[in-house]
Amino acid sequence: MCGIVGVTGVGDALPYLLQGLQKLEYRGYDSAGVYLSDASGKDALIKEKGRVSKLAEKAIAETKGFKGTAGIAHTRWATHGNVTVENAHPQKSADNRFFLVHNGVIENYKELTDTYLQGVHFVSETDTEVAVQLVDKFSKDGMATPDAFRKMISLLDGNSAYGFLLVDHEDPETLYVAKKKSPLLVGVSDHGNAVTSDAAAMIDLTKDFIELRDGDIAIVKPKSVTIYDEAGEQVNREPFTLEIDPEDTDKGAYPYYMLKEIDEQAVVARNIAGHYYDDEGNLQGIAPEITDAIKKADRLYIVAAGTSYHAGLIGKRYFEQWAKIPTEVHIASEFAYDQPMLSDKPFFIFLSQSGETADSREVLDNVKKQGFPALTLANVMNSTLTREADFALPVLAGPEIAVASTKAYTAQVLVQAILASALGNPGFDLKAELAKVAVEIQAITDEKESFKKIAESALKNQHSAFYIGRGLDAAVALEAALKLKEISYIQTEGFAAGELKHGTISLIEDGTPVFALLTQKKTAGLLRGEVAQVAARGANTIVFASESLAKDGDAYVLPEVNELLMPLLAVIPAQLIAYYATLDRGLDVDRPRNLAKSVTVQ
Ligand code: G6P
Repeated sequence: MCGIVGVTGVGDALPYLLQGLQKLEYRGYDSAGVYLSDASGKDALIKEKGRVSKLAEKAIAETKGFKGTAGIAHTRWATHGNVTVENAHPQKSADNRFFLVHNGVIENYKELTDTYLQGVHFVSETDTEVAVQLVDKFSKDGMATPDAFRKMISLLDGNSAYGFLLVDHEDPETLYVAKKKSPLLVGVSDHGNAVTSDAAAMIDLTKDFIELRDGDIAIVKPKSVTIYDEAGEQVNREPFTLEIDPEDTDKGAYPYYMLKEIDEQAVVARNIAGHYYDDEGNLQGIAPEITDAIKKADRLYIVAAGTSYHAGLIGKRYFEQWAKIPTEVHIASEFAYDQPMLSDKPFFIFLSQSGETADSREVLDNVKKQGFPALTLANVMNSTLTREADFALPVLAGPEIAVASTKAYTAQVLVQAILASALGNPGFDLKAELAKVAVEIQAITDEKESFKKIAESALKNQHSAFYIGRGLDAAVALEAALKLKEISYIQTEGFAAGELKHGTISLIEDGTPVFALLTQKKTAGLLRGEVAQVAARGANTIVFASESLAKDGDAYVLPEVNELLMPLLAVIPAQLIAYYATLDRGLDVDRPRNLAKSVTVQ
């Protein structure tokens, strides 16, 4: 949660910081702030509630005539303290000497306040203010700033995941950086250096980044970067060059990232096939150590959160049906504190878009301590979950910016299918079928107008909706419902259709929209029955059926691919319906309230 960015030694820091914050908004966007300074000691602190664009207006107006050459900035997802200007970062010390932005939670902030900061006047309710006041206290006790910063870090509860960026007004072009289990990179260039939660936020300054490791402390100056490891030893860490096209992180002609990302799914499917198959159609890119380790297991445990969890529910079918390995799928936040009874030889698969989700990290920590092998499938490689698992495979969806995940879901399903096919025979030519999937995804996304009409007619003025299905369609219904509710705020439930009659059917009223996903032959008849049952009680039923199962009156006929791969197609109308319903309500599609894309707190 929360995005951090800092620059030093650049001619004019504000544009870099504001642009960086815009790109980091996916990490939280309830308030934002920026601190600017120059070598002469002139400075400015500007904070604002709401989106980065509001901060930008205020900062540009309030800094007219002043060009800070260094600065730090933050976009917040509130944990401690409400959404107020006082609680926005940067937080500062009482004497206006130190300014700090922070990502993470300081679990022992109350104890630290009681022990070290009696009598200090706090202006915010944040745990972050405790950290900056501590640095100030240790500095007043006679410590040099690097030592005061290090001492503050050493006092944090061992469980605290953090990213910190501090400026000392008495040395205003030096940035002090600390990182543990929260992503933080140092960007290097010959026209200034940067610090950022995500490299994509600083690509206007540089493509060369140093990845900090857990426990590192870095001192970043306009022309130098010095890094100390957890033991306090100075270390040399080589920069890597980011291979990213700046256009990948731009909306281009699209009004919202979500629509762009929905449209990209056909290309993503092709890219994944291109990565995992050679020209002869042989699998590549999955090291034999990975398949060997999985084959030794007697049970797979897929652990994930949100949309990634839903992707895992589909993957389970591939691992069980093709690889013949019993597979359980678990919600990370539950598994972390209530670990179920495990088999003798478990193997863990972590699914994650960001690779940073704190709930999943907690589980990975636990299973590592128990000595179990783990593989992470993530969209962001070099993320914590990919680094800390024994093995990692890329999901290859490309940067996903909209908070509502779309292409990362389909990419996760695709990569799980490919991995399962490396473990056992699907009984059909998966590569050829995936090529067909890409073509059909494209065909569905080309029919946006149909879904716009359905969304506008079925969901106008509705406060609740349902997605139902059976088998794989029930799993897709969960994801479809999440998409609709998280961005349109229409309360939507995804349901295994057979369960409706056991309670939930009482919610059906005249006109309640019930979307039915009908792609699985075995249960198509039963599902038709359930559609009739809700229609008889007044529901407005909207059926998306695959070609061979479609009937007159269905709202949309899905092109047909292998039945097990139908989730990859069935989810697309649901994504588009969520998008258009949200647009119709005049809401911000990419930035739904209260959410963040990368959830780095538990
Ligand atoms: C957040 C996002 C969801 C995502 C979930 C898990 O809640 O808003 O879209 O599915 O985190 O994130 P991960 O990065 O682990 O897939």
